[in-house]
This record gives sequence, C-alpha cells and structure tokens, in this order.
Amino acid sequence: GATRFYDFKVQTTRVTKICNTKDIITINGMYPGPVVYAEEGDRVIVKVTNETPHNATIHWHGVRQMLSCWSDGPAYLTQCPIQAGQTFTYEFTLVEQKGTLLWHAHVSWLRGTVFGAIVIYPKTGVPYPFPYPYEEHILVLSEYWKKDVLQLEQQLLASGGGAPPSDAFLINGHPGPLYNCSANDIYKIDIVPRRTYLLRLINAALNMELFFSISNHKLTIVEADGDYTKPFTVDQLMIAPGQTINVLVTADQPIGKYDMAVGPYMSARNVPFQNISAVAHFQYLGASPTALGLPAPLPTFNDNLTVKKGLDGLRSLNASNLPLDIDENLFFTIGLNIEQCHSNNPNKSCQAPNGGVFAASMNNVTFARPKVSLLQAYYYSLRGHYSEDFPGVPMRVYDFVNGAPNNSPNDTGSVNGTKAKVLEYGARVQLIFQDTGTVSTENHPIHLHGYSFYVVGHGNGNYNPLTARFNLVDPPYMNTIGVPVGGWAAIRFVADNPGVWFMHCHLEVHTSWGLSMAFIVKNGKGALETLPHPPADMPKC
Ligand code: C2O
Repeated sequence: GATRFYDFKVQTTRVTKICNTKDIITINGMYPGPVVYAEEGDRVIVKVTNETPHNATIHWHGVRQMLSCWSDGPAYLTQCPIQAGQTFTYEFTLVEQKGTLLWHAHVSWLRGTVFGAIVIYPKTGVPYPFPYPYEEHILVLSEYWKKDVLQLEQQLLASGGGAPPSDAFLINGHPGPLYNCSANDIYKIDIVPRRTYLLRLINAALNMELFFSISNHKLTIVEADGDYTKPFTVDQLMIAPGQTINVLVTADQPIGKYDMAVGPYMSARNVPFQNISAVAHFQYLGASPTALGLPAPLPTFNDNLTVKKGLDGLRSLNASNLPLDIDENLFFTIGLNIEQCHSNNPNKSCQAPNGGVFAASMNNVTFARPKVSLLQAYYYSLRGHYSEDFPGVPMRVYDFVNGAPNNSPNDTGSVNGTKAKVLEYGARVQLIFQDTGTVSTENHPIHLHGYSFYVVGHGNGNYNPLTARFNLVDPPYMNTIGVPVGGWAAIRFVADNPGVWFMHCHLEVHTSWGLSMAFIVKNGKGALETLPHPPADMPKC
C-alpha cells in the first residue's frame, strides 16, 4: 500500500449558524474537518499540531490500530493530551478495512466540533461488491449548540444535572431551512436522473442517535461501520453516534427537489432534546431552483420498532472470522443512575436530586478518568493508576444461572474506579450487554476501540440464555452497537490486538458520567503479537 500524509492543525475558527456567531475548535479551519482518503492496506500518517489553548487528541474511530494502540487517541487511555503548541504524529495501517469510518477529537467534549470522515477505498483493481455508483457523497451528521461545547461539559458536571439539548442538527455543517434564520444555509447534492449514488452517512453527533430518510427514495444499505453488508433496502434508517452507514440511492423519481432529513431518535423518557429536523436537498438537474424540497418523513422520535427492524436486517456479506467457540463469557450491565458525588464531578457539594448527581456505570463501576494514560501506566508498570479487577459480571448481581443473572440486574450502588478487564492474547470473547438503569433506560451506542465485533444477538427485556436467539451465520461486523432500550445485545470478537482499549457509550454525556471501561489485551508470543515501543513524540501528562 501507499503512504498518505495529512497535516492537521487544531485551530480556533469563527462560525455563524442559526444567527449565532461563535468561536469553535476545528481542524484547518474546516467544519466538518478534512476527509482522510486512503486505500485498504495503506499507511496513514497524520501530524497534529495544536494551535489552540485547549488540550486536543484525535481518535480514528473504527480503525483497528493493529499493533498501533499508541495512535488510537482517547485522552488518558492511550495518550496524554496534545497541549497548546505541541505536535503529535499518528501513524497506522488500514489492515483489512474498507468503507467509511470517522475521526474525531477524544478529550473533553471537543468532538462536538472536531470531526471528519475517513474514506477507505478497496485496493486498486478490487471492485465493490455492488454495482459501481455514478458518484459518491459524504454526509456528516452532527449537532450544534449556540454555547461553547467545552463549557457545556463543565457546567453539566458541576451541576450534576442532565445534558442540554442541542440547538440544531447539521448535515455537512448546514442546518437547512427549518430553524430560525437558516433559510439559505442548506446543503445540496446535484443529482443526474436515473443514476445511482453512494451516500456515506456518518453520525458525528455528540449526544443524539439520528434517523435519516430521503423523500420518495429508497435507501439500500451496503456497508455498516466499515464492513460490507448484504444489500438491505429501507425507507428510513437509524444511525447512532460513531456509526457509519453506506447506502445506494437510485434517482428513479420525477425531476424535482427532494429533502434529505435528519431527526432525533430518543428512546429515554423525560429527557429534553432537539426535535426539529435538519434538511438538505437531493436536487435533480432540471428541478426549479426556487422550488421547495419535498418533505421527507421521519419516524417519530421514540420509534423503537424501526430501530429494531434496522438492526435485524443488517447482515454481514462475509462473516468468516466469527468465533464459534468462546473462551471468555462476559456479561456487562450498562445503566444510568443517581449517585453520590463521583470522581469526574468537580463540584463536591453535589446539588442534584436527592443530594446526588447523574452518573452511569458498567457492571456497577463508574469509570474514573486516570491522571496518566492507562496505556503508559500498563506499559511501564506504573503503580496506583488503575486496577485490573473490572468484574466480568455485575458486582451487584451474584446469582448467575446459565450465563445470565437469575435476578434482575441493576446499576444502583456503583463504585468509582479506574478498573480494567484483562484479556489473554487470542481469547475468543463473547460479551452480553444488558441495558438497565434506575433513572431511565435508553438505547446506548456502545463503542469498542481497536476492534470490530460481530453482533450475534439482540433483544428486548432481560437477556435469557434459554430463549435468546443468536445469528452465527451472517451477523454484522460493527464497532458501535446500539443496545436496544431496556434490552440486550451480544457481541463476539477475538482479542488479537494487544494494548489498552477503551469501551464506552458513544453518547458523550454518558461517557462524562462514567459509562465506560477499558480492556487490557496482553501481548502474544510472536513479534507480530507484541505491542511495539511508544513513538518518541508521545505527549506528557
Ligand atoms: Cu468514537 Cu472512544 O470514540
């Protein structure tokens, strides 16, 4: 493969949206940021220079980072932040990866404005497994706040309260006409009638799962999270933060201007959210430029059934690496709750309901951010920064029968801790996620760094091994799985990439509350099973 060089300058940039002007952090002044283009097998080298006063890191979401954990990017997990004036160079190879992924900042709430697309073409001469599209377009979906997103996180943690809803959704940085004074801020794709287009959808939103549709046009999903799927045709789809979905769309309608609409999927009750859609135009050549777009219907905000059907229909084109036997059988609860002050909360007086703060946990552990990077602490055996006792089953449910708890799991009584789960090199892992939570249940998009995993099962209610049905034939290969609201999902992967790998809810507010943990995957015996030394320019904490 070739080597692709990129120069990313973290900068302060002035933007105006929905009659609001503010300074945001960007890469090279672009919002969304620059696209990283590569072919499968290429080496990618990105030099990141921080020209802002804020800490920065970049995460290459969905990139496997084989033997390059040092370049993964989550702050305090695999590196210390790149401080003002510093430079760090990320280097990785795109092994067996193709399709669309995304990159985003991975410190504080910086990814609220710092994100962009990664497009990985098949190797030269290797065709797509579907008819070659006439043209390709990237659609990056995101959220916009009139306030500064970094300050929003500080306020959230200081108050102990819930997340502030965004003021608009954006499509490639544009809100479309439905918000206040946004009538002319509309993204548009020019369409040649009868041609077929490949749309690369990326959900880069901070805190919202999103529905997407195009009026009168079908969407045929051909790839999800950087892996091909069996073609699956829908009218509307849900895409969770961190997910990428490629769809084919054929311009088979009368000449006209059609809306592409983006709106919220909110499965939790009593959570305030932005409910006005972002709109872009899918505009046929020959359509009247002054015509209004034909509105695109979206599911209602709590349409769990459409989400379930979407997940049911995702099938991998080739699941030949699926492990059929299991060495490690894990069961993790994921939940929101109200806790006493937790360690991520700078305000020790805890002003929230019942003298507590909103918190979240996995297996009754609220993740506490370490002060050095876990990978450094692990690599250099620095004591006192983390412990290796993350439980394989919930701490508050002791009674397991047939691989599932006998009594209902819950996330009350969580402890704070920087706890990691250690996996042997090559272990075949099955992990059941169980949504729980005493404050509310919610669809949680759980993302695992450094791996894709097969989603072998999912369902409503509590996981029951006697009735759960698994797909061990063609399960989708994802890096982010929306665990059904109040339900469960089962994933499988082989722990063949040594390092420290963060796993967390990709609703950023939940990560702020501690809905995360880390895996430590040990080295294997061979040189190609061993994490190399860190690069010389690693930032210091
Ligand atoms: Cu896309 Cu840890 O994140």
